[in-house]
Amino acid sequence: MSVPTHSLRITAASADPALLDLPWQTPLEEWPANRLAALPRGISRHVVRFVRMSDAVLAAKEIGESLARREYDLLRMLRRLALPAVEPIGIVTGRHTPDGRPLDPVLLTRHLQFSLPYRALFSQSLRADTATRLIDALAVLLVRLHLGGFYWGDVSLSNTLFRRDAGAFAAYLVDAETGDLHDSLSRGQREHDLDLAATNIAGELMDLAAGGLLDEAMDPIDTSDLIVARYRSLWTELTERYSAGVSAARDLGTTWAALQGKLDDERFNEVAGFLKIQADEARWWRDASLDYFGSLSGLPIPPQYEPPLHPLNFYEALTCPADVTKARCPDVYTP
Ligand SMILES: Nc1ncnc2c1ncn2[C@@H]1O[C@H](COP(=O)(O)OP(=O)(O)O)[C@@H](O)[C@H]1O
Ligand SMILES: [Mg+2]
Repeated sequence: MSVPTHSLRITAASADPALLDLPWQTPLEEWPANRLAALPRGISRHVVRFVRMSDAVLAAKEIGESLARREYDLLRMLRRLALPAVEPIGIVTGRHTPDGRPLDPVLLTRHLQFSLPYRALFSQSLRADTATRLIDALAVLLVRLHLGGFYWGDVSLSNTLFRRDAGAFAAYLVDAETGDLHDSLSRGQREHDLDLAATNIAGELMDLAAGGLLDEAMDPIDTSDLIVARYRSLWTELTERYSAGVSAARDLGTTWAALQGKLDDERFNEVAGFLKIQADEARWWRDASLDYFGSLSGLPIPPQYEPPLHPLNFYEALTCPADVTKARCPDVYTP
């Protein structure tokens, strides 16, 4: 029988030639121990193994071809958006055993250094404060993904990796298989992800409890509901960030103003005019965004921040002519 080794294909942005030396004709489950790194791994549906390369450890997941491509593309897009997820390295297709039996493709990602699956984060039992900190980290990850337009579809502790980050944890997405990237998410999509997160986390904590691995004082349902509360409380943090953006734009104008008289008036005034537009537009952007996010979260702007100049329907009704020679939206420029 002919051995179709020629059909092996590695799709990667930059392929390490050493990848070709891996035993692709063998099912991942049977890879020899000397090629593997024994690092902690979470629960998964697919076979996942860590492969030791000269300069890195890769995670290899055996998975159907369309799912492999989809996950690879999504991880690449998440990377481009600078969102915290594992780094995709490539996909290996066209695998066959020496006797010609086809094998599933493998998705390769870079092993996220110093990361741990949640089950590895406790030795005897998951303490209440550790569980809370994991959920905090997952809420931050979820808000960031949602703001980037990513609907996860399978939010869970098992699909997240955690890194210790001073006293807290930082969370990274590891399993993007069920995800989808949109320009922005609707309230329904976000709520659906949150619902799934609470349900999955409750299941994962009940599982730990059944194995005697959960602090007895902890209630799995109450703890899993924390994700919803934490996700919503990030709202306050969001207000802070947008407001800081407005201050930064205003500061630029103040810095420029100090140069008056040190260069010709025409250039000074032209730049001062642009900086004023920039500060006004930062405010416009902040106000419209906070009105919008506020309409989703149902929460008021914390009292220490300037309230938006106008309600959401004002911003929604704006029609701004794309004429660069004119103020584009006179209504939003403050005198
Ligand atoms: N790049 C990676 N770095 C570290 N761990 C990983 C990586 N990729 C996968 N893993 C580990 O393998 C587990 C299973 O991966 P996952 O993509 O969730 O597989 P499945 O699609 O079968 O659920 C994860 O929980 C994680 O522990
Ligand atoms: Mg998974």
